[in-house]
Amino acid sequence: MDRLAFATSSFLGHLSVRPSKNVSHRKPPATRPVVASPRMVAVDPSTLIDSEFDPNVPSERGRFGRFGGQYVPETLMVCLEELYENYLKIKDDPIFQEELNGLLTDYVGRPTPLYYAERLSARYARADGSGPQIYLKREDLNHTGAHKINNSLAQVLLARRLGKTRIIAETGAGQHGVATATVCARFGMKCIVYMGAKDMERQALNVFRMRLLGAEVRPVTSGSGTLTNALSEAIRDWVTYPIETHYIVGSVAGPHPYPMMVRDFQACIGKEVREQSMAKWGGKPDILLACVGGGSNAMGLFSDFRNDTDVRLIGVEAAGKGLETEEHAATLTKGTLGVLHGAMSYQLQDKHGMPSEAHSISAGLDYPGVGPEHSYMRDTKRAEYVSVTDDEALDAFKLLSRIEGIIPALETSHAIAYLDKLCASLEGSPKIVINCSGRGDKDVTAVVEYLKKRGDDDIEF
Ligand SMILES: Cc1ncc(COP(=O)(O)O)c(C=O)c1O
Repeated sequence: MDRLAFATSSFLGHLSVRPSKNVSHRKPPATRPVVASPRMVAVDPSTLIDSEFDPNVPSERGRFGRFGGQYVPETLMVCLEELYENYLKIKDDPIFQEELNGLLTDYVGRPTPLYYAERLSARYARADGSGPQIYLKREDLNHTGAHKINNSLAQVLLARRLGKTRIIAETGAGQHGVATATVCARFGMKCIVYMGAKDMERQALNVFRMRLLGAEVRPVTSGSGTLTNALSEAIRDWVTYPIETHYIVGSVAGPHPYPMMVRDFQACIGKEVREQSMAKWGGKPDILLACVGGGSNAMGLFSDFRNDTDVRLIGVEAAGKGLETEEHAATLTKGTLGVLHGAMSYQLQDKHGMPSEAHSISAGLDYPGVGPEHSYMRDTKRAEYVSVTDDEALDAFKLLSRIEGIIPALETSHAIAYLDKLCASLEGSPKIVINCSGRGDKDVTAVVEYLKKRGDDDIEF
């Protein structure tokens, strides 16, 4: 049993209800009596539905409407306050920003290209030649092979400022673990990565990469042995060694200020897309599409376009074996309101407020929670959230490899897979930008087994 998740969820167990239709959709007052700490819950947040999108979130207390906040043990409040204060300082500090931008350019390889996927677009062309124009934002070309390093690099620089000597992280697909191990090697910092035992098996290549980079990988065998248990274990470690440790959270999840901070560190993705699309076709994209696990690559792409309401934002979750089964990770489609890993958001949970076991073929999406800003964007309808199954993602994994010569991560394959449904519903020739969040080398061994089991006979094993 996941005790930390249990402690927070059960504390607010009575809030674990789906917002009912008969609750009034009223805009909350600017300063609502909803508070950021479990010590002072004054209002039942399930009665507050945000109907209008406010781009100026989060509030000073880390609230995205009724989502977010800081539901953590008392010991961590000091660390979070220190982190928030220092984050506000470095945000506008030209010396910090110069160092970060220099490393993003020379070490990470930014800006990443915005690539016109000609053959993928041709697949969805209509008989009259019109059809969506599909572009890939190539985060897979970053050093270490995914968007995760944008955040790990910025946070390790921040940890050095805070005088921390020990870095901890959690990882699902291993990409965040590899990125964190990489930046720790670069700066000579001690690094411990918590990883679910099941994920260590399916992402064995990344486990070895982390060890090669000098990190200690600690297997987590509790619960389902996946990302959610790794996250709980990392929080337990942090509670035990709060003074010397900085916890590099890998997504836009966790207690305030992480969802805001990770969003801002990933916002370079969307900012570059804006500049690149202006240079390529003299306008904005019409649709932005990204997979959603915790939500960091999607938020990184969406964030700069929050105010551009003519740009559609679409997040794709993992429907696993199907939404009609219990085996999926479609938190925003099927979840209910609750608290997990320090923040209020939608989550998959049982009637006691315990997190459910999620399922996805992709370790990076196999998480029963989601970042609070996505829950806010869902309720305010600023973004749309959809889901695709394991099988659809596997098909997309093969498709992109064969028609564009790009092997995508299984996580990314979910976003690609949604094109079939999306393109069938579009008119004209809209410009779609898909976040190609990571490369698929890490998944190849697991995919061989999945395809063999499925009986695919169009490929030799
Ligand atoms: C390549 C890749 N894309 C997406 C994700 C999902 O995370 P997030 O939703 O935070 O972008 C992961 C997580 O490990 C990943 O490795």
